[in-house]
Amino acid sequence: MSKKTGLPLGIDVGGSGIKGAPVDLAKGEFAAKRKRIDTPAKSTPEAVADVIDQIVDHFDDVRGDSPIGITIPGVVTRGVVRSAANIDKSWLDFEAEKLLEKKLGHDIVLVNDADAAGVAELHYGAAKGQKGLVILTTLGTGIGTALIHNGVLVPNSELGHLELDGFDAEKRAASSIKDIEGLSYPEWTKRLQRYYSHLENLLWPDLIVVGGGVSKDAEQFLPLLRLRTKIVPATLENKAGIIGAAHLAQEYHDSR
Ligand code: BGC
Repeated sequence: MSKKTGLPLGIDVGGSGIKGAPVDLAKGEFAAKRKRIDTPAKSTPEAVADVIDQIVDHFDDVRGDSPIGITIPGVVTRGVVRSAANIDKSWLDFEAEKLLEKKLGHDIVLVNDADAAGVAELHYGAAKGQKGLVILTTLGTGIGTALIHNGVLVPNSELGHLELDGFDAEKRAASSIKDIEGLSYPEWTKRLQRYYSHLENLLWPDLIVVGGGVSKDAEQFLPLLRLRTKIVPATLENKAGIIGAAHLAQEYHDSR
């Protein structure tokens, strides 16, 4: 592979692993096999930057001018992380995007994980070409959401924290709760039904896309839901965050 391409790199910062891959944006696919490194025990921005450096070095197609998109499982406003459930609290209210740019010497975009996945599904996956309002939900440890209207992302929607029957919705309906409480698919689907009915009554989306690891078993629960909105599984699986982050980073790089 040539060193001249300067492909954008997508990085997914999770609680247990930091994963990255260069992305071929024409195809919406990884340009090389994903590299995963354990998240450092103390996952400060500096420690995460060191891991990203190693991931950059790992790939031939990522060079000095490659933009890097980084997903964070929390709110990110103008490059600053505002909530940090699964990463070190030192990210909070800290100019992380600027620090990472300085430390790594690349254009950096920090983005909420679900927002990145939503962007990827819009450009390359289940929401491609969809007009009107798309809501992507990721069902995992928590519930992440992305709101996209006519192709424009409205970031940090955080609709996994809607109140549902007196609870934070993700504490009732995330797939981790299904596992923790040992719920069957029909039992869990009752909770999803409450959640998605609430969402569609508030926002009247044109399409709901369901991502997160459990979406590979979508046929076990999506057909049980009774909604007026079309609801489909995500198609990019666990690649969506990395692909969406790389897409946003390239857009940012091109606009400078
Ligand atoms: C966080 C979101 C995140 C989601 C999925 C939620 O608990 O508040 O920012 O997108 O988990 O990781």
